[in-house]
Amino acid sequence: MKVQHVSVAVLWLAHVPRGIAALDQVILKDASVTPRAPKNVAIIGAGSAGSSTAYFLRKYSKQRDIPLNITVYERDGHIGGRSTTVGVYGDDQNPVELGASIFVEVNQNLVNAAREFNLSTSGIRELHSEGPALGIWNGREFVYTQASGGSWRDTAKLFWKYGLAPLKTVNLMKATVGKFLKMYEEPYFPWKSLSQVAYDLGLTDATAFTGEQFLEKNGIGKLFAQDIIQASTRVNYAQNLPLIHGLESMVCMATDGAQAIEGGNWQIFSHMLAAAEANVYLNRTVDKVSKLDESAYVISSKGTPIDSEQQVFDEVVLAGPYQYSNIDFDPEPRHLPDSIPYVQLHVTLFTSKHKLSPGAFNLPSDELVPQVVLTTLPPGEHHGNGAEGVGSPGFFSISLLRPSMDTRGNRDKLEYVYKVFSPMPLNETFIANILGLAKDESVSEEDVSWMYRKVWHSYPYEYPRVTFEELQLDDGLWYTAGIESFISTMETSSLMGKNIARLMVDGWKE
Ligand SMILES: Cc1cc2nc3c(=O)[nH]c(=O)nc-3n(C[C@H](O)[C@H](O)[C@H](O)COP(=O)(O)OP(=O)(O)OC[C@H]3O[C@@H](n4cnc5c(N)ncnc54)[C@H](O)[C@@H]3O)c2cc1C
Ligand SMILES: *[C@@H]1O[C@H](CO)[C@@H](O)[C@H](O)[C@H]1NC(C)=O
Ligand SMILES: *[C@@H]1O[C@H](CO)[C@@H](O)[C@H](O)[C@H]1NC(C)=O
Ligand SMILES: *[C@@H]1O[C@H](CO)[C@@H](O)[C@H](O)[C@H]1NC(C)=O
Ligand SMILES: *[C@@H]1O[C@H](CO)[C@@H](O)[C@H](O)[C@H]1NC(C)=O
Repeated sequence: MKVQHVSVAVLWLAHVPRGIAALDQVILKDASVTPRAPKNVAIIGAGSAGSSTAYFLRKYSKQRDIPLNITVYERDGHIGGRSTTVGVYGDDQNPVELGASIFVEVNQNLVNAAREFNLSTSGIRELHSEGPALGIWNGREFVYTQASGGSWRDTAKLFWKYGLAPLKTVNLMKATVGKFLKMYEEPYFPWKSLSQVAYDLGLTDATAFTGEQFLEKNGIGKLFAQDIIQASTRVNYAQNLPLIHGLESMVCMATDGAQAIEGGNWQIFSHMLAAAEANVYLNRTVDKVSKLDESAYVISSKGTPIDSEQQVFDEVVLAGPYQYSNIDFDPEPRHLPDSIPYVQLHVTLFTSKHKLSPGAFNLPSDELVPQVVLTTLPPGEHHGNGAEGVGSPGFFSISLLRPSMDTRGNRDKLEYVYKVFSPMPLNETFIANILGLAKDESVSEEDVSWMYRKVWHSYPYEYPRVTFEELQLDDGLWYTAGIESFISTMETSSLMGKNIARLMVDGWKE
């Protein structure tokens, strides 16, 4: 044992650049009293991927009794990354999801974590108005409306209009999800290569094609694909079926047991980091990762209260998209992730006393607009990538989330909270139109009492592909975000974190 300590200390000495000699002194002292020096792991990013990596690293290292010291760097002031909330009227007691809002019952990492941490979940799409629950608008008319959560009349209506396509879609979705779930289990789990496991499970048969091609190959009628499935790919990924690949198209139809954590999904990730006993540094941006040798990296970070800092780690996990991390890797890793196009999504939250205007959706004035308006393209309209993909509806979705009492300044006014997804900032003309206000007047605070805008790099454009980024970029350097071109969800980022944690711990000698 003694010999091992010495060698650890010597290794540390060899790794330490001049500037942090003091740190090494501390480590040398520690090594002489503690039985074993811990593995030091740095995780860059406290979103789903980073938090899950930390959580499972702690779990697996405990099982093997390996001492571990986890450090998480997060440039934002909050845990959760793209899972985050804002307060309606600026009130933190009244939170609403700004990014990832739902997960489903097959999302076992999230479902299990919610249970372990005793977090309350709620279903989505409660009815808050007397109108239909959901409608699909193509810029001219509603091609589909649903009175409430799946009544028999709606099912009959679906059959009448689309024949067997809905049933075939459910079966295809279930078969595809069944293959995906094998990624959690031996002998597939843990996988060293996402490309390989996707191929072995036959999932590249779905990622290789556009949603449009994949559905056609599987005998699903064009009308159902255009009206229903595309509405789902648009609200979930801001992409149409001729672009988004077949696997993501199926993910969009896997909605059974849709749920959210009351108060915000980010709480799962916050609890994961606490359970991982990680040192979490918020408001700290990693700007440089330098490789000293096979088992030592120096991380340079900036933030407050310590302006600039360097720390040494055995292994490093980059848990967010490489291209937006702005990290200088020195030297360049053996596998450098490609820059890939991400969707620029405008999320607009606002409160108003008005309901959506029937006139804006070509409905008679005595009809109610559905609580959730999804969109698709009208017949004959085809659009490629980017913002043009939105087509004539001009937005991807508008949801009335819930009623809300505006108690500011003793107003006690009953209002509604709305969320809109669009490829462009919402302007006054657009808002006045959907709320049925006079077109030439500016929208007053009386009409829209609170508004919050956020532009996200929300997810990649999910072009068909059969290979995915390496998850090990170099010795001891790992990368989670390659999975986003396969499936971009909180759960899949979490699965990647779990997979990397397993591979890392398996690679450690006792
Ligand atoms: C509007 C919207 C709606 C969505 N809806 C859903 C949904 O309903 N369900 C669902 O499952 N998914 C949804 N998603 C997708 C989901 O949010 C993401 O797939 C998932 O959250 C990605 O998690 P991640 O940990 O991989 O990345 P992120 O959440 O992006 O986390 C990466 C973290 O790394 C940090 N970071 C990056 N670089 C550095 C650096 N240099 N130094 C320090 N920190 C750094 C970032 O600040 C960030 O916090 C949605 C996304 C958006 C934007
Ligand atoms: C654990 O990591 C922190 C950095 O977050 C470091 O300051 C500390 O020295 C490490 N502890 C050990 C025992 O290596
Ligand atoms: C992070 O920075 C923001 C903005 O400067 C600040 O309001 C917040 O308190 C900081 N959070 C932490 C945990 O340091
Ligand atoms: C779990 O939550 C419920 C309701 O919030 C609470 O009554 C219960 O004590 C909690 N249990 C644990 C173990 O925290
Ligand atoms: C407002 O937004 C809509 C939809 O994006 C757009 O078509 C219209 O040109 C915009 N109007 C103005 C005045 O900018």
